[in-house]
Amino acid sequence: MKTVKRTVSLAATLCSLILISAQIKPVVPAADPTLRDAYKNYFPVGVAVAPRNLTGPEAELIIRQFSSVTPENAMKMGPIHPQENKYFWQDADAIVDFAGKNGLKVRGHTLCWHNQTPGWFFTDSLGSQVSREVLLGRLKRHITDVVSRYKGKVYAWDVVNEAVPDTGTDTYRQSKFYSILGEEYIEKAFEYAHAADPNAVLFYNDYNTENPAKQDKIYQLLKKLKEKKVPINGVGLQGHWSIYEPTAKEVDNSINRFASLGLVVQITELDLSVYPKEHVRRQRRDTDKSEFTLDMTDKQAAQYKMLFEQFRKHKGKVTGVTFWNVSDKSTWLDNFPVPGRKDHPLLFDQNYQPKKAFWGVVNY
Ligand code: GLA
Repeated sequence: MKTVKRTVSLAATLCSLILISAQIKPVVPAADPTLRDAYKNYFPVGVAVAPRNLTGPEAELIIRQFSSVTPENAMKMGPIHPQENKYFWQDADAIVDFAGKNGLKVRGHTLCWHNQTPGWFFTDSLGSQVSREVLLGRLKRHITDVVSRYKGKVYAWDVVNEAVPDTGTDTYRQSKFYSILGEEYIEKAFEYAHAADPNAVLFYNDYNTENPAKQDKIYQLLKKLKEKKVPINGVGLQGHWSIYEPTAKEVDNSINRFASLGLVVQITELDLSVYPKEHVRRQRRDTDKSEFTLDMTDKQAAQYKMLFEQFRKHKGKVTGVTFWNVSDKSTWLDNFPVPGRKDHPLLFDQNYQPKKAFWGVVNY
């Protein structure tokens, strides 16, 4: 009897030792925690989606891991409003319905952008450029119709996307919106969006925000909007970064600087390319290899870990983090900036399995 008791208690001690050491450093990673659970006391963790992601294993992954979705393309001006009197709601509706059924938040993207804008927006029936009045009227109608349709279902909108150029001394990008309407188009877009849904959280969204010159311009632009009492609530740092940039200090400074304007900060399009970051499309060169080495795996894990440490540190200022695409199976970076160069920028691999970087993000 004594021997049995001793054996049982020895086994129990061994078990708890194994459990304790497993808690310190899991040998075989468990499937939990998920991103949404790990960050439930911080911010929603979102993902950019297309209708094709809403069935099968990708849908399962989205529902299990994330708490928010952003339509990758479906709400952009061209796809949703292809002709002056014709909206194409089907894809955006499908994403909003999917979110509603599965208890996910929706970030709307994007109401005014110089890219993927339909040609009809700027031209009249004879093909000439429209007047200021006509363009403002079209912008107002577009924003009002889209925001009203999803009122109460889309909690936040990227109202103006990428209005600031990467290089040169101009503050404003030389887009058609700017050349026809001047800088006022930005505040008008925010006013129209706010009027259509006064409860929606409204963002200015841009990339390359850690570049000092560009950051300065964005900061000045936002400061002016705040001083003019334009209804803007937040700034979206897209977060198209890489395993080599930005540094912790750069991210820390960005968040503090933008938050000092009384704006919330969201990381809206997060992905970490395994190649040095380039923001301009170019031809493929012989030296461009598609690879994901062990060293890249480690660097990516360290970079993601550092970034989420920063986001957690700024709890309250950072109110959302959204990944740009679901898994490495298919990402826009497979074709940008270099056509046909496979990239591996996300937390899930090509078979939807968590990568090393995933564990550093959820186990903290
Ligand atoms: C920008 C836009 C996004 C998307 C990406 C590429 O960051 O804001 O909507 O087009 O480029 O996918």
